[in-house]
Amino acid sequence: MSDFNAVAFRQHFPFFVNQPAWVYLDNAATTHKPKAVLEATDHFYRTQNSNVHRGAHQLSQVATTLYEDARLAVKNYLNAADVAEIIFTSGTTAALNQLAFGLMHTVLKPGDRIVISALEHHANIVSWQLHCQRFGVIIDVIPLNADLQIDLDAYQKLLALSPKVVSLTQVSNTLGTILPLENMLREAKAAGAITVVDGAQGIAWQRPDVQQLAADFYCFSAHKLYGPTGIGVLYGKKALLEQLTPLQGGGEMIESVSFAGSHFNKLPARLEAGTPNIAGAIGLAAAIAFLSQFDAEQLKSYKRLLLKTFHDGLQQIPGIVLLSKLENNAGILTLNVAGEHPADLASLLNEQQIAVRAGLHCTMPLFELLEQPGAVRFAFAPYNLISEVEQCLTALAQAVEILAA
Ligand code: ALA
Repeated sequence: MSDFNAVAFRQHFPFFVNQPAWVYLDNAATTHKPKAVLEATDHFYRTQNSNVHRGAHQLSQVATTLYEDARLAVKNYLNAADVAEIIFTSGTTAALNQLAFGLMHTVLKPGDRIVISALEHHANIVSWQLHCQRFGVIIDVIPLNADLQIDLDAYQKLLALSPKVVSLTQVSNTLGTILPLENMLREAKAAGAITVVDGAQGIAWQRPDVQQLAADFYCFSAHKLYGPTGIGVLYGKKALLEQLTPLQGGGEMIESVSFAGSHFNKLPARLEAGTPNIAGAIGLAAAIAFLSQFDAEQLKSYKRLLLKTFHDGLQQIPGIVLLSKLENNAGILTLNVAGEHPADLASLLNEQQIAVRAGLHCTMPLFELLEQPGAVRFAFAPYNLISEVEQCLTALAQAVEILAA
């Protein structure tokens, strides 16, 4: 049993008061926001709204302080060495695109290799592909073994080819699989690679310590961590961030501009062109402060309990084809009903106000390997209740009967 009080945790989230009928199990897509986050962004817009780093007035100074305090909160949360290593982006996708663009234009040379895994989200595939052909860079993919875990022998063989970049997800958004990143990144560093972590799903499972993790870059989105949408982070080691060609040019990211050419600003401004998402950064800092009140291990073990309860219940329902494994799982179970289309199952669940995601989950190559037309994903968060898991199992059993009729 878990000591975690899910009912008390859930009370922080106004969504569940306003929408009591919904069972929300689409947490890998986005999480709900606690009152503290809603109030922080609302308070900013109502009483402090102003642009940062520009104004000659006090309001702008307050906004700048709040924005830079948010950067410091993220730096502390990730245990980054320097506040200039935290770049605000619009999300994980924007962070990965900046990284791929920046590395392709400076560090990578024709013939260089990048290693990703078969579990990657499109954001960690396509961002690299956009440039590979033009720059002559090769992408190698670590396959999965029969247990759908990363094939570590194959990984060793790919490392022997001396890749320049190893870019891996921390947690599969489709299957929930937790990658053994500590070892994998250490080995990648030993092989001389730059290491990149797509933390979009991992951030809600495990607070990262970027120094301990041997991650040169770590990307995440606030909205998967109970923060607002439209704000995310690209963490990077300072010396490497300095080498990235900015993907976006504009205000703030320059030191000087003339028609003959421009000189870029220092970090972090160098990689933050234009007016940033100030309220978003404030909301992210509020989400971090909110989460820090809770014991991370308790949140994890409660999520495991939700997962196991769901997994055990599934054994009683005929025809379930479970794609995810229970072991090494960060709180996501993905499945199909044999012979049925995932969209039909999700639609029957939707009729019972159970929110799940169905389809290819932005992982088309993975579904090609799995030889499935897509799947239905159940992603848990600590505000989900065991009673909701039971409700979901009942709805699922009924849906299976309806589909079979
Ligand atoms: N990347 C998010 C997901 O997996 C949107 O659902």
